[in-house]
Amino acid sequence: MKLTRRYRFCASHRLDVPALSAEQNRKLYGKCNNPYGHGHDYVLDVTVEGPVDGMGQVANRRELDEWVDARVLQQIDHKNLSKDVPALAGVVATTENLARSIGDSLQQGWPLAARLRRVRIMETGRNVFELEMK
Ligand code: NI
Repeated sequence: MKLTRRYRFCASHRLDVPALSAEQNRKLYGKCNNPYGHGHDYVLDVTVEGPVDGMGQVANRRELDEWVDARVLQQIDHKNLSKDVPALAGVVATTENLARSIGDSLQQGWPLAARLRRVRIMETGRNVFELEMK
């Protein structure tokens, strides 16, 4: 059985690789390289999978919510992903890298019996990124 739980957070970023020139960054990232940055209302879906327990649940939603809140939302909600988030230090704050970082943060010390199966982030109505956990 799988459970997907949905969370929302707001954050800003600027896509810029310091090793590239200003011109190269503009070509590579377009508007997302705007020096003032910009924000998104992200939607984060976390999927867990496992057997249904004696209480009729694949996972306790309160326990999952507390873990996602402590490990992810408190670190990134209303933050500048390009500057304020230690887990993203040294990498460009694309949503691909954000998904990887969130997957790693959730997985480390994972407390539930159900396993972490997928992290999915909707950045805009046109961009959805999905990370399958091993
Ligand atoms: Ni963006």
